[in-house]
Amino acid sequence: MIKALELFSGIGAFAEASEKRGIEVVAAFDQDPRANQTYQLNHGLKPISRNLDTIASAELPEADLWWMSPPCQPYSVRGNQKGLGDPRSRSLVNLLGHLKKHQPKVLMLENVCGFKDSDAHILLDKTLEEMGYKSRIVELSPTDFGIRMRRPRLYFVATADGVTFQAPAVQNQPLMNLRGFVREVYPDDLIVAQKDFERYSPSLHIINPADENAYAICFTSGYWKSFKSSGTFIEIEKGKIRRFSPEEIVTLMGFASGFEFPKDLTTQAKLKLAGNTVDVRAIDYLLSGISFFN
Ligand SMILES: C[S@@+](CC[C@H](N)C(=O)[O-])C[C@H]1O[C@@H](n2cnc3c(N)ncnc32)[C@H](O)[C@@H]1O
Repeated sequence: MIKALELFSGIGAFAEASEKRGIEVVAAFDQDPRANQTYQLNHGLKPISRNLDTIASAELPEADLWWMSPPCQPYSVRGNQKGLGDPRSRSLVNLLGHLKKHQPKVLMLENVCGFKDSDAHILLDKTLEEMGYKSRIVELSPTDFGIRMRRPRLYFVATADGVTFQAPAVQNQPLMNLRGFVREVYPDDLIVAQKDFERYSPSLHIINPADENAYAICFTSGYWKSFKSSGTFIEIEKGKIRRFSPEEIVTLMGFASGFEFPKDLTTQAKLKLAGNTVDVRAIDYLLSGISFFN
């Protein structure tokens, strides 16, 4: 069985995809206790609550594959774009140092498209080159997998000698209507207050799920707090809108319908976790192109 580490594990998009592929996640790491609680509830494994800025090489168990989705704020157009100058890049720099010592056969890394032009990308390429790995970048969005949601992301797949990666052809599946993802029953706190609706509606992305051509935009971790470009809102009736629920968002991201959040988390906390996660279908698609699995 292939052994994997899930770094910056959040709610476990990698664990969710790897279950189908017979991968054993031997350890997951995240510093957010709410993410770790949600991960354990759904995937059984208890993530190690640890700041990856300072984790030592010896604390990382041996594995064939490392998956990581480090914080994107240093590289995102919505963030400060300070790249390696942003303290939130420290964990990535630390882990790239350990990568050289551990030499897993495969490294997979996900981030926003802005990562491509960053100094962190230069460091990643340099590290992989020194290790003699072959690296490929694939840009994928849920729209590539039949989901009407625009969330383009970069995925790096780097392989050591003896393992190959060939990106499979994208199937260009017909796009599903968003209506199928919108639930009839939802908590009241998802409804946007009338005063906020009146104030922000010109800058909001609002859809009517009955519209066959409606697309959702990228849901971010700030969807609860921020109204501008933080995600799509649903028109319930004229002049009344609500947010998507955390459960609706994770279903759009490819998590199984049985996925659940701990009951004691607030809607705000659940939305933050849902906005941080990764498209499970994209991970599964990439795994299917690695010679381990085909
Ligand atoms: C982009 S999200 C990744 C989400 C995850 N891939 C998932 O499937 O939900 C980044 C995650 O990294 C965690 N994180 C950020 N900085 C960290 C650090 N220095 N040490 C440990 N975890 C960190 C955050 O708590 C967050 O869950």
